[in-house]
Amino acid sequence: RMKGGVTIIVLGASGDLAKKKTFPALFALFRNNFLPEHSQIVGYARTKMDCDEFHKRVVSHLKSDDPAHDQKVKDFLSICHYVAGQYDQEEYWEKLDQYVTDLENKESLKKEQKNRIFYMALPPSVFVPVASGLRKHVYGKEATTSVVIEKPFGKDLESCNALLEDIKRLFKEEEVYRIDHYLGKELAKNIMSVRFSNMIFSPLWNATHIDSIQITLKEKFGTEGRGGYFNEFGIIRDVMQNHLLQLMSLVAMERPISRDSEAIRDEKVKVLRCVKPITAEDSLLGQYVKNGDKPGYLDDDTVPKDSLCATFAALVLWVDNERWANVPFILKAGKALDTAKVDIRIQFKKLPGSLFCNVPRNELVFRVQPGEAMYMKFNNKSPGFSDETMITELDLTYENRYKNLKIPEAYETLILDVMRGDHSNFVRDDELVAAWRIFTPLLHHIENEKIKPEPYPYGSRGPDKLDKFVKKYGVERLAHE
Ligand code: BG6
Repeated sequence: RMKGGVTIIVLGASGDLAKKKTFPALFALFRNNFLPEHSQIVGYARTKMDCDEFHKRVVSHLKSDDPAHDQKVKDFLSICHYVAGQYDQEEYWEKLDQYVTDLENKESLKKEQKNRIFYMALPPSVFVPVASGLRKHVYGKEATTSVVIEKPFGKDLESCNALLEDIKRLFKEEEVYRIDHYLGKELAKNIMSVRFSNMIFSPLWNATHIDSIQITLKEKFGTEGRGGYFNEFGIIRDVMQNHLLQLMSLVAMERPISRDSEAIRDEKVKVLRCVKPITAEDSLLGQYVKNGDKPGYLDDDTVPKDSLCATFAALVLWVDNERWANVPFILKAGKALDTAKVDIRIQFKKLPGSLFCNVPRNELVFRVQPGEAMYMKFNNKSPGFSDETMITELDLTYENRYKNLKIPEAYETLILDVMRGDHSNFVRDDELVAAWRIFTPLLHHIENEKIKPEPYPYGSRGPDKLDKFVKKYGVERLAHE
């Protein structure tokens, strides 16, 4: 727990992200007594409204099954303030600084007890002016300052480098926390624990025993209402270059020398640097089309009628080192598909020999969501009179194993990490550069060559060509998938 006090300044407080993610997470931390004793939250945005109106907006997304919920909400709102102001004018930043200073003074905080967190829930267009205004006028002269940044971190290697330069001029890397909320998910955090605390896995975790690794993010809904944003980015930038690649780096990295955040991030960067830029042959793109009463991507009013934006992609990544020689990492993501799930499937090699008939390969699955679980496809004697084996599951479903456990939301654990000064689950500058290096040539190729995505019906498994595409890399669909 952070010592003393903290003032969390949420920039872009009237926006969707703040309302849906940041404030609910802050409320959950407050409710569970994770915020330091002297905590204040200041929302800042351009929208003119008074504190009551702001509270009304915030409340609509605060939920809990706590019997004392209403009282807790009331207590929480008593530390939530709102200041309206522009993003590009000094006087407003000075006003904000005065507001925060007054709050700190009211709490009679000593110098070493003062902490300011700037939480930037902002669109990229205003990001740099806001960061400069904060640095110049609101930066804690007497307090420690942390800056939390949300994606997008650029659109390709070049724009990412420009953004990194801008930030570097304003804040030190140790003050910066770049959020990739997938790193706050329980099963993502479990990858290192499973790999490096079990003797049974480390000898098998390589190309000798593993055939392929699939990392999949499927969503059931389309881009309804978000088409304007989405069309600028597409599925690869929206969830693959960040969320899926982060999961991949945790699966593929070498053992860090310690659990110190820099040691972990060093290993992630190292493995990302071994990944070859993705080629066009190793990619399959899709765009969903109308299916019954479900609209196609192009039916969205905020999307240009001739958009070639991919809402689905399957990409194969190759890690050029000894551990992963010739093991395909297949990243798949899509909107408007048949189910909603995120999982990592590690398919082992086929067992040689013929002592048993038709023995399917083993598969280890990290189910990130929904319903956190780890399970292993495993051959077992068919119980009863048969002597043959059948595939079954060694199953660690969290809901069954850890009864009544409430797994915290990703944003809750990440904001807590910021307060603890722990960078392990945030993206470092060089990691971002390494990530963009892998994706940029493909993204430019798709845009320059105007590659047309394959159509797939809303609610389907994706483009027809998908099964053939993954088969090329030796991936099998196993029972129960
Ligand atoms: C966001 C993307 O980063 O992640 C969204 O912008 C996507 O398009 C979301 O829906 C998925 O996150 P989660 O936590 O709902 O799986």
